[in-house]
Amino acid sequence: MCGIVGYVGAQQAGPLLLEGLARLEHRGYDSAGIAVLGGSGAAASQPRVVKRAGRVRDLVEAVPQRFAGKVGIGHTRWATHGPATDANAHPHTDASGDVAVVHNGILDNAAALRARLTEDGVELRSDTDTEVLAHLIGLSTADTLEARVAETLRVVEGTYGVAVVHAAFPDRIVVARNGSPLIIGVGEKEMHVASDLAALVRYTTTVAHLEDGEMATLTAGGFTTYRQDLSATSTRPTTLDIDPAAYEAEMVLGAGESHMHREIHEQPQTAERALRGRLDERFGTAHLGGLNMDPREVRAIRRVKVLGCGSAYYVGQMGASLIEELARVPADAEAASEFRYRNPIIEPDTLYVAVSQSGETIDTLLAVQEIRRKGGRVIGLVNVVGSAIARECDGGIYLHAGPEVSVASTKALTNMFVGFALLALQLGRVRDLSIADGRRLIDGLRRLPEQIAEVLDQEKQVAAVAERLAEAESLFFIGRVRGFPVAREGAQKLKEVSYRHAEAYQTSELKHGPLALISPAVPTVAIVPSDELTDRNVAALHEVAARRGPLVVVTHADVDLGGLDVQRIDVPRNERELDPILLTVPLQLLALHAAQHLGLDVDKPRNLAKSVTVE
Ligand code: F6R
Repeated sequence: MCGIVGYVGAQQAGPLLLEGLARLEHRGYDSAGIAVLGGSGAAASQPRVVKRAGRVRDLVEAVPQRFAGKVGIGHTRWATHGPATDANAHPHTDASGDVAVVHNGILDNAAALRARLTEDGVELRSDTDTEVLAHLIGLSTADTLEARVAETLRVVEGTYGVAVVHAAFPDRIVVARNGSPLIIGVGEKEMHVASDLAALVRYTTTVAHLEDGEMATLTAGGFTTYRQDLSATSTRPTTLDIDPAAYEAEMVLGAGESHMHREIHEQPQTAERALRGRLDERFGTAHLGGLNMDPREVRAIRRVKVLGCGSAYYVGQMGASLIEELARVPADAEAASEFRYRNPIIEPDTLYVAVSQSGETIDTLLAVQEIRRKGGRVIGLVNVVGSAIARECDGGIYLHAGPEVSVASTKALTNMFVGFALLALQLGRVRDLSIADGRRLIDGLRRLPEQIAEVLDQEKQVAAVAERLAEAESLFFIGRVRGFPVAREGAQKLKEVSYRHAEAYQTSELKHGPLALISPAVPTVAIVPSDELTDRNVAALHEVAARRGPLVVVTHADVDLGGLDVQRIDVPRNERELDPILLTVPLQLLALHAAQHLGLDVDKPRNLAKSVTVE
């Protein structure tokens, strides 16, 4: 979703801001812009703004050759208030043109503030909520830019990460955060700011995360942080344990490559990384240092509730099953976006688990805050180190999937599953899982990376299946018990990148409605693991076949499909608890190849954003 960059230092800001915005493209956006302050001569006075609906490359073309200035802010916008137009793109300026503002988040009282400004004779030039910030800061007569921004923020309600430059204070950028991340990057006689680490890593790995309610002033010489009442805070920079070259290499694509394809194929290595140093053969358990729970606390858990959105929610369902099976504690998953709105009862003996790749998804973050406000304990399964959700939780497990750029989550999702398996193992071994079963699971986990590679070796066959499926307008994905979240995730991936209508159903529910839709034009992708439900699953396939519904079956080699005419994809068997992830991987390839067959850009699915930072 929306992205912010900012720079103040000795270099020309324009090219750095454009480069930073290019690093944020994967988040999803529909317009972009920059404002630069401080050229020489007549151009020195006010921020100069260039903004365009469309891609960053359109913006790059629109920026004049001579666009001098060593202080600037930039933005990629994902439309919320008003369509994607040049006028609605950020930065927004006030009536005088002295102030330029970029903003992530949503201002809840924007309509009232717009009405008040209009009554006062201010002419609004966009449909956005952000524009009010520029006008209010412009109208403030406080002595400093810090005070003008703080005064403005006291009258707005909602979420924001904002960055502001002002002609009268040309040596600085003032930023503020409430619910929308901002990270300050500390360079050599220069300061950067961005909403996402991806835009900072090539310049510095020394960073400071702003807290909610905090503001900061960046000048070439350093930064200061303070609250909205301007009293100082003590936020300090830390140096991240990231290899910038390796990070950069993951962000940049070769010709004809897609991030989704690359990330799918990284999974054997990234899954391996999630396991490294975390398996303990001797005691048949996992070592998760960051859980911050002693065995007594683990034994006291009476229920586990997993919260996540989209694919994180579906893998959360897989995770809840793992925990229930291995730790023998009731566990379920719920969409974090719904949880908060039903005034949930927060139980002290429930362990809440928030799962998120970005660590920024606002619905998941707000659910975590609600639980903690009511005294509940939350642990996070998060990929992005130092992200809002990771920092908000009482403890957690980092996923170590590396930067995931593709909007459609693949390698992070696989590592979420691995993270859940480790968590279930550790909880199980403190509770009633035998050492023999613990070791059995460890063996299974060790086999996973290689087995994922075996699935990926079937890419050609899966691509052939995908090309046929891509011709259908509408499809079903079916599975039951362990297979149902796999079906949900498969349908999700196909929808996201190929824009085909795909609906996931429990196989057992087919007869209760969806069978009416089965026809030669509506294929079904069935998840049929070799387990205690195989016979029932195969019986359902016969029912689909009897209605001449085309069938793709993702299954294990020992499953006998009784002579059914199907396109079959076999995956290797692991321990039954770990099978879901191996059944999921071919569905990633299916979605990728269906989309590519249809000529679609898999890395930039329409209307979707990588990090959903607004409710
Ligand atoms: C699906 C997908 C989304 C995310 C969801 C949560 O491929 O990427 O459904 O899973 O938006 O995002 P995170 O995991 O960042 O909280």
